[in-house]
Amino acid sequence: MKKVRIGIIGLGFMGTTHFGIHQINPQAEVVAVADIDPVKLTGDISAVSGNIGTRDSNQLDFTGITAYSDPYKLINDPNVDMVDICVPTFVHCKYAMAALLAGKHVFLEKPMARSIAEVEEIAEAARNSDKYFNIGMCVRAWPEYYDARTRFQTGEFGKLKSANFRRLSQSVDGGSWENWFMNDERAGGALLDLHMHDIDQVRFFFGRPQAVTSFGVRGVRSDRAVDHVVTNYDFGDGTLVIAEGGWAAAKTVPFEMSFQLICEKATVRFMSEGYKIYWEDGRVETPEVADAKLPTGWHKELFYFVSCILDGVKPEKYQTLGEIVDSFKIYEAEARSVDSKETVKINY
Ligand SMILES: NC(=O)c1ccc[n+]([C@@H]2O[C@H](COP(=O)([O-])OP(=O)(O)OC[C@H]3O[C@@H](n4cnc5c(N)ncnc54)[C@H](O)[C@@H]3O)[C@@H](O)[C@H]2O)c1
Repeated sequence: MKKVRIGIIGLGFMGTTHFGIHQINPQAEVVAVADIDPVKLTGDISAVSGNIGTRDSNQLDFTGITAYSDPYKLINDPNVDMVDICVPTFVHCKYAMAALLAGKHVFLEKPMARSIAEVEEIAEAARNSDKYFNIGMCVRAWPEYYDARTRFQTGEFGKLKSANFRRLSQSVDGGSWENWFMNDERAGGALLDLHMHDIDQVRFFFGRPQAVTSFGVRGVRSDRAVDHVVTNYDFGDGTLVIAEGGWAAAKTVPFEMSFQLICEKATVRFMSEGYKIYWEDGRVETPEVADAKLPTGWHKELFYFVSCILDGVKPEKYQTLGEIVDSFKIYEAEARSVDSKETVKINY
């Protein structure tokens, strides 16, 4: 069977998660890895931690895989078809640009970059490339979110009255390479790193909000970044759409990702009770969305991207580049709103 030959840059939480997923994909083969940390290049990932999931071993087997200390050598390796970029956000742009210009398919972890200038530079290169490009907005592919969004958009639940999305993490202070998440310049705080998923869900479910009003707090855990934010999205139609995100809670607090949509015909919830639809006529539905083979959005987005490369299909099932750029513009407006304490209109 033909396989997509993959090179992963960055062997932290996301890079090692991607590694495990590519390993169970019969259409994928990891042929190269790169990291600036020589310990990780030996397969020793004991220093890596993350918010969702567990792992069986602290040692990855890189037998037969080329390990590069220089990521540009991986990008220019003729055996690599697809570059999977899982480095800290502030270095996304340079590797994404190099990989696109080298004519590789590129899967780039979210958020797309640290600034709108970088986002636009990457977007331009992706549009000019004849290869495929996706961003790891994994919540778009997460089974419960994808099901609810698909059914909402067919009109099955009726008109939206109110919606809220939450993504709340225990503190990630001390959990990353050089503790980069705690540095605003490098990560953009919970506002960009974590809450971006729900910004993008708002865009994914409902289209383009006109304006945002955000309240946030800086420097609870990080140097000066927004560590907790609550945003109201104005669609100009009287609906109430809110999202809350933060990583300021104590280390022992469990991770929470949840949403609730109150619509004319049903209330759709993914919360402590699981994924349920409470119909106005009294029925309570528990949709069967679990997929034992591809249990998470990470599995689904990566399997899908690899299959698109092999089949020659533009990978637009979960995202278009324009939508992801929109989400970044919404994030920028939220950051301005937090600091100005005013409602900010979004310029698309
Ligand atoms: N989609 C998701 O749900 C999700 C979850 C967590 C993180 N992320 C994103 O994934 C990316 C990586 O985050 P992480 O949690 O894996 O971070 P991490 O700190 O766990 O790992 C980062 C890795 O990159 C390496 N690295 C740092 N600078 C490098 C450079 N210049 N060149 C090559 N390697 C370098 C580090 O040695 C480390 O191995 C970030 O953009 C983050 O926002 C996405």
